[in-house]
Amino acid sequence: MIYFLLTFSFISACTKKGVTAGGTTPVPVPPVVVVVDTNLYKFMPFPMGASVGISLMKNNAKYSGVVGKEYNSITAENAMKFGALHPAENTYNWADADYLVAYAQANGKRIHGHTLNWYQNLPAWVTNFSGDSIAWENMLKTHIQTVVAHFKGKVASWDVVNEYFNDDGTIRTSVWVKNLGPDYIARCFQYARQADPDAILFYNDYGHEYSSAKRTAIANLISSFKTRGIPIHGVGMQFHMTYTQTDANINAAMAFAAGTGLKVHLSELDIRLNTNKLQTLVFTDALAAQQAARYKFVVQAYNAAIPKAQQFGITTWNVGDADSWVPSWQGAPDWPLPFDANYLRKPAYKAIIEGGK
Ligand code: G3I
Repeated sequence: MIYFLLTFSFISACTKKGVTAGGTTPVPVPPVVVVVDTNLYKFMPFPMGASVGISLMKNNAKYSGVVGKEYNSITAENAMKFGALHPAENTYNWADADYLVAYAQANGKRIHGHTLNWYQNLPAWVTNFSGDSIAWENMLKTHIQTVVAHFKGKVASWDVVNEYFNDDGTIRTSVWVKNLGPDYIARCFQYARQADPDAILFYNDYGHEYSSAKRTAIANLISSFKTRGIPIHGVGMQFHMTYTQTDANINAAMAFAAGTGLKVHLSELDIRLNTNKLQTLVFTDALAAQQAARYKFVVQAYNAAIPKAQQFGITTWNVGDADSWVPSWQGAPDWPLPFDANYLRKPAYKAIIEGGK
């Protein structure tokens, strides 16, 4: 199998005879280059995605080139969040998300919606909202149903609720829980279902690879939804990982997800390297190799543990290292993604392909 650019330079063709006033002298001719290129998603046994930023898609040709070439599924990194779509009570701002949806449709890519309900990225009008529980319920329902209806038939799937649990398995304190009670989560799924009966509905969270308490809480939520007839079709495991994460922990997350019987999306994969948050760390070949080995292991573990019918796919959280949320979040440099800052393939790229075999 050929994974990378194969370049054949026909050195013998590099010169040809030219005629000058003084006689015949060699004139340089550029080498003939035959490029056999690859697309990451074509090697993968399940959809392969990236989250993307709209301004990078619009303004950076290298970035949009990689997205177009390498992935067959995309998620908006921020453009479908509450704060982006619904900045004021009676104002929806569809422009960025619509741009991405149009791009996906024109280029034959699946688009996964992220996210209808989260405790973060809320506009001030929501955090300052002073209505009673009926007004809160109406606001929640209106947002979910307006957004899902807007993208009906275009966005195949949604992270309905994101990060409902703390790492210890307790329910996170949020404006939603505070104003609507913990069972508001079930109604989010029902509202989404009413607005688009065909959409695949996910519960999305992080930490499955290190918190068995969170896994248990999510498993209990899913089984209670099943018992109560609340629609849920998928579990999203973000997988924002460190390269030191153990095989056993990764396998435990996969076993949990397989056991839900739902579709499983590794929804925000990235593998960070700067575990000590050093300002001086540099990206060495050795770190690149260790990161690649982790990428390969994660993909292999997913492919081996998750039954085919449950494999929704793997999505990395953005494309190139310079675009990652990780450096600003941890306050130190990092290189968590399969492409470098120039959108060149890192060893992790080939490792993902190897893992999918
Ligand atoms: O676009 C504005 C810009 O105009 C402004 O000057 C700048 C100043 O802070 O902010 C910019 O917006 C930022 C936005 O990212 C785009 O870069 C927001 O402040 C910042 O909060 C936002 O962070 C995003 C974060 O979610 C919060 O919404 C990250 O990009 C995004 O990667 C991150 O993604 C989350 C997933 O949704 C859920 N799982 C965890 C993951 C990582 O935190």
